[in-house]
Amino acid sequence: MKHADELRKVVLDTIEAFDLPAEPASLYDPIKYILTLGGKRMRPVATLMGCDMFGGDVNDALSSAMAIEVFHNFSLIHDDIMDEAPLRRGKQTVHQKWNGNVGILSGDAMLVKSYQLLAQGPAPLLPNLLSIFNTTALEVCEGQQYDMDFEQRLDVSIAEYLEMIRLKTAVLLGASLKIGALIGGASHEDAQHLCEFGQHLGIAFQLQDDILDVYADADKFGKQVGGDIIANKKTYLLITALQKATGEKAELLGKLLGPNSLTDELKVESVKTIYADLQVRAAAEQAMQEHFAIALKHIAAIGLEPAQKAPLLALADQLMVREH
Ligand code: IPE
Ligand code: IPE
Ligand code: MG
Ligand code: MG
Ligand code: MG
Repeated sequence: MKHADELRKVVLDTIEAFDLPAEPASLYDPIKYILTLGGKRMRPVATLMGCDMFGGDVNDALSSAMAIEVFHNFSLIHDDIMDEAPLRRGKQTVHQKWNGNVGILSGDAMLVKSYQLLAQGPAPLLPNLLSIFNTTALEVCEGQQYDMDFEQRLDVSIAEYLEMIRLKTAVLLGASLKIGALIGGASHEDAQHLCEFGQHLGIAFQLQDDILDVYADADKFGKQVGGDIIANKKTYLLITALQKATGEKAELLGKLLGPNSLTDELKVESVKTIYADLQVRAAAEQAMQEHFAIALKHIAAIGLEPAQKAPLLALADQLMVREH
């Protein structure tokens, strides 16, 4: 069985060799820029691992793995426009370095590229892979729209939040693993367990992302710390605070989320003080652990030897303690 580090090297070499035209530079340079900025590469690694654990040849899954990483990076360019984010992986976001229109069109071109890559996958599986990819890509859009819509609402429930992050983040990790497993020759049932594992791991991963957005070390995180608070994102933390706050604290939180003349810095500090008082971080961490535990149950249900599952479990453990 191949370890994540070995598979990540394969992904990085493939990204390195990824050929794009030189002109128009403002279409293709941002694509090269975002793809070589770094990143954990967890989705393509998951695809290759899904294939490897069922005894498949990872080379057969490489174009599909790349399709998913290119799709993910496309979604990041557009997400950063929508979230007005200045930083990504420790560098300027595409729309900051170029402009919004460049970000839109480079992102669109990447979506097309991801389908070109997907089409290079194993021919007999293509109808199925395409169907999984299409469903997933639309779900990501749905999740992204809920995320944006929720900025304007104060009554978002935890259930709505969990469904929103399942769509915007978790389904792609599930699909990454499922596509790899199917290429590797997994049964439909095992591929489905792996998909469910990926979705619950993805939910835990997005909960962690929301926690890091508030509490990460700015140098390690590579994104603007506090961005979710500035944008009134309805994260697990904020929803819990809105539910728990009473009296003066509830009034203050309402003021912080409404129109006010506070600087971003002061808003972030004030919201963090309320979070600390109400211990919302611990609640979010608990929810994260709950979904991690559900994910593990799906791995346990797969009919493979422990040694075949070990690299995936190690990868999942790593993701749960990440700092960026
Ligand atoms: C960022 O994904 C978007 C989220 C789903 C939180 P990653 O944290 O996987 O980003 P990179 O690719 O490693 O930079
Ligand atoms: C984004 O969620 C998920 C997608 C890109 C689809 P976030 O907005 O939390 O991701 P980051 O924090 O900017 O990476
Ligand atoms: Mg964002
Ligand atoms: Mg976002
Ligand atoms: Mg985030």
